[in-house]
Amino acid sequence: MRSAARVIYLDWNATTPPHPEVLAAMQAAAEVAWANPASVHGPGRRARAFIEQAREAVARLVGLDARDVTLTSGGTEANNLALSHAFGDEAAGAGAAGAPYAGAGAAGAPPWGRLQGALVVSRIEHPSVTRAAEGLARRGVEVAWVDPEPSGRVAPEALAAALDRAASVAPVRLVSLQAVNHETGVIQPVAEAAAIAHARGARLHVDAVQAVGRLPPEAWAGADLVSVAAHKIRGPKGIGALAVRPGVRLRPVLLGGAQERGLRPGTQDPLAAAGFAAAARRALDAPARYAALAPLRDRLEAALIEAGRAAGDAPLPNGEGMRAPHITNLSWPGWRGDELCAALDLEGVAVSSGSACSAGTAEPSPVLTAMLGPERAASAVRFSIGEETTEADVVEAVRRVARVLARLRSLPAGS
Ligand SMILES: Cc1ncc(COP(=O)(O)O)c(C=O)c1O
Repeated sequence: MRSAARVIYLDWNATTPPHPEVLAAMQAAAEVAWANPASVHGPGRRARAFIEQAREAVARLVGLDARDVTLTSGGTEANNLALSHAFGDEAAGAGAAGAPYAGAGAAGAPPWGRLQGALVVSRIEHPSVTRAAEGLARRGVEVAWVDPEPSGRVAPEALAAALDRAASVAPVRLVSLQAVNHETGVIQPVAEAAAIAHARGARLHVDAVQAVGRLPPEAWAGADLVSVAAHKIRGPKGIGALAVRPGVRLRPVLLGGAQERGLRPGTQDPLAAAGFAAAARRALDAPARYAALAPLRDRLEAALIEAGRAAGDAPLPNGEGMRAPHITNLSWPGWRGDELCAALDLEGVAVSSGSACSAGTAEPSPVLTAMLGPERAASAVRFSIGEETTEADVVEAVRRVARVLARLRSLPAGS
């Protein structure tokens, strides 16, 4: 019979458990902020205050101005908004390339015409960036893809070469590079990327979803546009933000009302905003808590490698150099990552293979494939710890991993 052992949650990169302060803030907001934040009456204004508090807390967290923060449904939408802002819509006449959206009044222009300009983007971005880039390419944008090094880092030289290559075809409007990779934790050279992009007249978008609240703000230094998601910093799901430097004008990807200055139409959620504000305030000093996790992550990694070796084959770490302090990603020779994850789930250890959004599909991680090839990707498992993970959790998780490996090893081949 399956044991009712306590579940050990080692998937903090997929999402984080909401913090009690966040839940309390949402509960308090639920009592007073049920009205439509766009309504001008008292109840509406009360609801709107929560929206503005979230905007201010996010601005403080990322180091930009609250007037330049657009609340979205999460990191995915923030990334889509960021990528599409740089490319004008010729067919619709909403402004030629480089003349971005100029205010709510222009929101009637449909966003589906042919586009101009070039985009430089790495192959290890989250699908909300890579798929958006593919969509822009289908509409005429020249997209230059940058491969990572086997270490998982995108080399600044490769970025510069891609920029120069793309610039020979069309003016490069935007470079998109994440701050921290969601699967390996490898920290990307954002400051160098900003210098390279700016020297060539392009803007830099940084998907900081995995960096904000885990690393200090230097991790996205120099970015012109920064994407954030509340649920990665112990806030609620379904809310995030795109913060931009003054002067960066966005264009909406959704058409509708005047919410978020017309840039993100749709009724805003004051409860989610209350939770986001509480999470963003807490996240200001979270990087110190995360830094303190590095020794625990190192012990977890070493113990997992030892458990693999004892079962026959030591797993191989994916991602080298500067890494976020809470992630380890290992490929297990001879095993399939998704099968190991399923077996570990039965033992009460929650981990993932590939990013959560591609969980359930058999496709190996595009990030690890780009770094190290499809075989290495197919056997990968990501362990990500968080501020509530204890030494005892790590010891028990490794014990369960060893048990799973021994059990799988003892099965007849092909079963
Ligand atoms: C690096 C990165 N960017 C973007 C996202 C998407 O954020 P959301 O889940 O809020 O849409 C994720 C989520 O896993 C992520 O890890």
